Order: sequence, then structure tokens, then C-alpha cells
Amino acid sequence: MPSLQHHGVSVTQELVRLPRVRLDKHKVLQILVNLISNAKNAMDSLPEGRQHLRVRLWARDDRACIQVVDTSMSFTPEIRERLFAQGFTTREGGHGLGLHSSALAAKLLGGRLTLESDGPGLGATATLELPLG
Ligand SMILES: Nc1ncnc2c1ncn2[C@@H]1O[C@H](COP(=O)(O)OP(=O)(O)OP(=O)(O)O)[C@@H](O)[C@H]1O
Ligand SMILES: [Mg+2]
Repeated sequence: MPSLQHHGVSVTQELVRLPRVRLDKHKVLQILVNLISNAKNAMDSLPEGRQHLRVRLWARDDRACIQVVDTSMSFTPEIRERLFAQGFTTREGGHGLGLHSSALAAKLLGGRLTLESDGPGLGATATLELPLG
């Protein structure tokens, strides 16, 4: 939070209280840190007042859904196909490891990770689904 606020990113949290679950907390944190850092990087070029991050948590059936929603320029449909490929990056100094390793970690947790956008310029939404039971 301090790092985001320092960079002028406003944060909204919409978190539903869910039952406690036993899971690999380290893996989940690793994924969330990756997603939040990607969102922050993707919004770096926007003026400060337009960098918004929304974190949402809710349950659907027997799954927890965690979303990291940003207001970035997002990506084109061609790039969307390649986002999770190991080594794919558009960022100077990037390694293209964050999404690849996060998707693998999500799978190991019995869940899945997606990154969607309604179109270039319309922001991006990362969704992490995890089993609740
Ligand atoms: N929230 C997002 N909005 C727009 N583009 C994104 C977002 N998250 C990821 N991307 C795109 O996907 C690419 C791959 O992301 P990934 O996290 O795998 O690597 P990286 O952030 O570039 O480098 P690394 O995570 O290894 O430091 C990014 O370079 C960027 O082009
Ligand atoms: Mg990354």
C-alpha cells in the first residue's frame, strides 16, 4: 500500500469475508504480489489521477475469486495470447516470468489465473480462482 500510494495509485478494496481455508499462503502471496506489481507497472505511464487499482474478493460456488483490476492501457488481442508465455515481456527490465510462474502456482493450488481486457486502453483484469474446500 505505501509503495502504491507513493506512486500515486489509488486503491479500492471490495473484500467479502470468507471462511478460512488451508492453503499455501506463500504461493498465494507470490501470485498477488506479481499481479499488483504488473498492474502498477502497466499504469506507470498514466497521469497520477488516473491510476486506480481495485482488489476484489468474493466466493462463487466452491471457489474464491480474487481480482486485481487496473486502469492501464492494457493490451491488444494479439498480445493477449502471449501474456503467459515464459519470457514474454513488453517492459524494459522485465523478465516475463511473473505471469508464467503465477499461472503455474495457481494450477498447483488447484485454481487458475486469467488476464482479460475489454480492449486496448480499457484496463486489465486479472482473476485468480482458488478452491475453497
Ligand atoms: N495488468 C496488466 N496490464 C497490461 N499488461 C499487462 C498486465 N500484466 C501483464 N501485462 C503484460 O504482460 C507481460 C508479461 O507479464 P509478466 O508479469 O509475465 O512479466 P513482466 O512483468 O514483464 O516481467 P517480470 O514479471 O518477470 O518482472 C508484461 O510485460 C505486460 O506486457
Ligand atoms: Mg510481472
